Amino acid sequence: MADYQHLYAQSLNDPETFWGEAAQALHWDKPWDSVLDRDAKPVPRWFVGGEINTCFNALDRHVEAGRGAQKALIYDSPVTDTKRVYTYAELRDAVAAFAGVLRDQGVQKGDRVLIYLPMIPQAAIAMLATARIGAIHSVVFGGFAANELATRINDAQPKVIVSASCGIEPNRVVAYKPLLDEAIELSSHKPSSCVIYARPQAEAAMIPGRDIDWRTAAEQAQPADCVPVKATDPLYILYTSGTTGQPKGVVRDNGGHAVAMHWTMRHIYHVDAGDVYWAASDVGWVVGHSYIVYAPLLAGCTTVMYEGKPVGTPDPGAFWRVINEYQVKVLFTAPTAFRAIKKEDPEGQYLHDYDLSCMQSLFLAGERCDPDTLYWAREKLGKPVVDHWWQTETGWAIAANPLGIEPMDVKPGSPTVAMPGYDVRILAEDGSEMPDGEMGNIVIKLPMPPACLPTLWHNDQRFVDAYLTKCPGYYLTGDAGFKDADGYLWIMSRTDDVINVAGHRLSTGAIEEVLAGHEDVAECAVIGVADSLKGQLPLGLVVLKAGVERDASTLGKALIQRVREQIGPVAAFKLVNVVKRLPKTRSGKILRGAMVKIADGAEWKMPATIDDPAILDEITEALRDMGYAKR
Ligand code: COA
Ligand code: AMP
Repeated sequence: MADYQHLYAQSLNDPETFWGEAAQALHWDKPWDSVLDRDAKPVPRWFVGGEINTCFNALDRHVEAGRGAQKALIYDSPVTDTKRVYTYAELRDAVAAFAGVLRDQGVQKGDRVLIYLPMIPQAAIAMLATARIGAIHSVVFGGFAANELATRINDAQPKVIVSASCGIEPNRVVAYKPLLDEAIELSSHKPSSCVIYARPQAEAAMIPGRDIDWRTAAEQAQPADCVPVKATDPLYILYTSGTTGQPKGVVRDNGGHAVAMHWTMRHIYHVDAGDVYWAASDVGWVVGHSYIVYAPLLAGCTTVMYEGKPVGTPDPGAFWRVINEYQVKVLFTAPTAFRAIKKEDPEGQYLHDYDLSCMQSLFLAGERCDPDTLYWAREKLGKPVVDHWWQTETGWAIAANPLGIEPMDVKPGSPTVAMPGYDVRILAEDGSEMPDGEMGNIVIKLPMPPACLPTLWHNDQRFVDAYLTKCPGYYLTGDAGFKDADGYLWIMSRTDDVINVAGHRLSTGAIEEVLAGHEDVAECAVIGVADSLKGQLPLGLVVLKAGVERDASTLGKALIQRVREQIGPVAAFKLVNVVKRLPKTRSGKILRGAMVKIADGAEWKMPATIDDPAILDEITEALRDMGYAKR
């Protein structure tokens, strides 16, 4: 094994050699002219001049190397009682056939394909098929409502939308098709066709002339070959929450992404071709893009696609069953999943039913891993547990414990050290560097490593404004924290209006927009309050318009329903109260930070800029009514 310090220093001092060597592991249709174009705008670009096909590298390359019979994808769905294995050859064929369907629908290089699918193999097939013909996918998570889907349709302007008749949650069948129809109705952009995968749990009403049945079309289509694209051409757009209701369309390129994904499997997760790797997330999130679909397949691993939950499908032993049944070497999930398991099986009784000797390590991300969860997982599993920190924008870990390079000492609460390629700094508001141990804005000095976003979809300006302007020469992560004397990073909070609910990234600003749209609401604030299961929960405080008399409970129910309908069940918005006034600074800015501290029962200081301190007493009262603000 190499030594971390050495590799890290090399990656920053000579990124061209570092990533140029990493890129040799892949098949390039045309070699790059330069590994890194430092003059590109708005940020430096990787593998400029090179041509590659991501799908070829994820599938065909392995089949051509003689590993067509190896398992590529295992689908395990306790919610439908279904299991299915695809070998690399079978997955390649299914992808090539579906790429033919997309091509028949007129999809060409650079066109967008929007994918709104549950956790079924067809989601990975549709993503890879899009990549195969050089088009750009945009996957939308199934827990979003029609309105959110419509926003993404309008922004990405897909030629084709791929969806299914339904998704399945443990307590209900989620009919996707009506949501899709409503979203298309709401959006000004209309796709030319929709390909629908029919599932037996719900029938989809098809619109003649627009909707096509997946199976029928795939049977008729001729398989499509891989189309080489520029390394800098987008592979996908993935929307993520920002400060407003308009999500950010994070763009991922083909070349840098493939190189980084492949590199991380061996160096961070310490797995190789043939190993079974399971990211228990959803294809709708970045973890699903990177570690259910692309990285494991690029590395020749077997990936597991699990349509179920950590608990309730059927019990808190579900994860152990899957690990044992498929001989999973590495599991990657969010801490919230482990908190859910711990809540139902605190003693880890279900672990006794399974032999987990195949398991090498557990990786956690998506939210800060609280030390209690880390200790519990480590003790019960008896395996290394790695908390690693990253975000949709980067596509892979900014900080981790690189088990494949050199396992480092664990400091619970810290995601360990910066990964190669990431020059992470802690800056004060004035841009100066903070001393060790002191909190500041966490930034990454440009250039960022391969796979990190080169821009936002069709919006360079928003990219520059949101990430590059506050600290020139650096990418602003939106997280605050510090670096300790050993170089370990500590990620403490967000500096914007983003909250993290069960590992899902949500914008409080977006929820506020929905509440403010209610006819009785004059103004409102949504804050993220601490929750022992989901990490954070959104909590809304609303002020009624003058003269409006409304029963708080009836209004609350209406507002909860409104958020569910407009953002989706995934917002988990269930806490709302009516207050007379909101605390503000003298310049009119709502003091959300102070309310969060009060709600969580944390230490807080009266903000010097507050307009009327008495309002905070009223807020404390309202929060106490809801079971918060207890000290
Ligand atoms: N389609 C439709 N609805 C969905 C959905 C999907 N793909 N995913 C979640 N929802 C719904 C849920 O059914 C739930 O609805 P409800 O209010 O009617 O109960 C709501 O959205 C909230 O979902 P969630 O926050 O996931 O809560 P949960 O109570 O269903 O499950 C956990 C809690 C901890 C078990 C669950 O969040 C989990 O498995 N987390 C794993 C971590 C993870 O996947 N993180 C992603 C990033 S790594
Ligand atoms: P997402 O883009 O949905 O992956 O969310 C990214 C955000 O989640 C980060 O900017 C952090 O705020 C938070 N996050 C993710 N992983 C971690 C972690 N390991 N520790 C602390 N925060 C994390």
